[in-house]
Amino acid sequence: MSERTPAPSYVRTPSAAFLRSLAVDRPLARYDLAGSVAHVEMLGSAGLLSAAEVASLVGGLRQIAREIAGGTFPWRDDLEDVHTNVEVRLTELVGPVGGKVHTARSRNDQVALDERLFLRAAVASVGASLADLSAALLVRAAGALEVPMPGYTHLQRAQPITVGHWLLAHFWRFERDLDRLLATARRADVSPLGAGALAGSTLPIDPARVAARLGFSAAFENSLDAVSDRDPLAELLFDLALAGVHASALGEEIVLFASKEFGFVARTPALGSGSSQMPQKRNPDVAELVRGKAGRQIGDLVALLSTLKGLPLAYDRDLQEDKAPVLDSLTTATDVLGALAPLVAALEFDGVRLAEAAQDPELYATDAAERRAAAGVPFREAHAEVARTLGTTDPASPPDPLAAVALRSAPGGPAPATVRQQLAHARTRLAAHRDSLSSLARKVELVEDLLNEGPR
Ligand code: ARG
Repeated sequence: MSERTPAPSYVRTPSAAFLRSLAVDRPLARYDLAGSVAHVEMLGSAGLLSAAEVASLVGGLRQIAREIAGGTFPWRDDLEDVHTNVEVRLTELVGPVGGKVHTARSRNDQVALDERLFLRAAVASVGASLADLSAALLVRAAGALEVPMPGYTHLQRAQPITVGHWLLAHFWRFERDLDRLLATARRADVSPLGAGALAGSTLPIDPARVAARLGFSAAFENSLDAVSDRDPLAELLFDLALAGVHASALGEEIVLFASKEFGFVARTPALGSGSSQMPQKRNPDVAELVRGKAGRQIGDLVALLSTLKGLPLAYDRDLQEDKAPVLDSLTTATDVLGALAPLVAALEFDGVRLAEAAQDPELYATDAAERRAAAGVPFREAHAEVARTLGTTDPASPPDPLAAVALRSAPGGPAPATVRQQLAHARTRLAAHRDSLSSLARKVELVEDLLNEGPR
């Protein structure tokens, strides 16, 4: 074909460049194509397309999928968005019947569908990264159940814990992040296709059939809600921002622990790079960047919520602004989690410095008060009594941190035997999440199946 197909009239505007979303919606292409295959099949079964038309449209859509994967798809900037690029190319490939793909459909329900399929794949992928980081924390924790360290409140030495207990505290934060992501995917498991521009269609379409073909648990209940609901993306951005905040807190502790002041973690090359000026420097750059990146993820969440605030029903073009923050936060999450897991795996704890710090007698002041409380002294009195004698400990009999930590065997505490149980629970939770991720990955595969199946 030598002549370029002219852009459809609805995209030929003076401010085309301003309206364009192609840069941010190209990542939706495969989901867009799979959604169109399911839609076309449904139109066929509803008698709105002949079997020959279905075969030709589905063949064209699959050919486009191959062109995009192979890098030969003729992307056109003058065509506003991914949906129009696909439809124009489809018509070039299969002729005027290409114009039937958009029967009983609007870009409004189409983009909402694409985003839900995209979200499913995003959760599967970033969820797997979270699971890998969680697994790295478990491995390190298992090896450090009997390595005492000071625990802190207000960043002041408080009570004795172990490195294993500390690592598991970070594990549980990420475990909840993974749980939240999976819940977000579950709530997003509703197909909006068939809602049309805002009020469905006069044609006898079957949204439930499309939903089932794409692996959704249900089709939408309300067409106005279906085209305007961006809750899944807002939830995703919150989940990612909170995971980023959790990562930043771990990053901060690694930065602190790798300082000469703490010295709990060796300053190995795995932490980062050197200084261009100061020959002695080895900086914890990886942990610092992990700490810093959470800022933009919070910004991405705020950006989307601000866009959504006050929007009238149903579709508004403002919604096009939903994609950039989602892509940014996802890339950031993938980078952060991908950097943090190997960093955790490579941390070298300095047993000597940790032991020294864990022998600080002040860490055991609460234990002394609790010994008195166990003997019947009201705790308030015991507290005051120990406070008076602080600093008078006999340097000849330093505290035994491991023995002290073993006494902290109340549920959820740092005693090695208790942490062993915690570790078992953690492994069970992580395995359950991995199962949920595999089920999700099977749903993600449905998109590929729709694009790869032979002509039906
Ligand atoms: N690019 C648009 C978006 O991302 C697709 C839907 C456009 N709908 C419309 N009526 N212009 O939201």
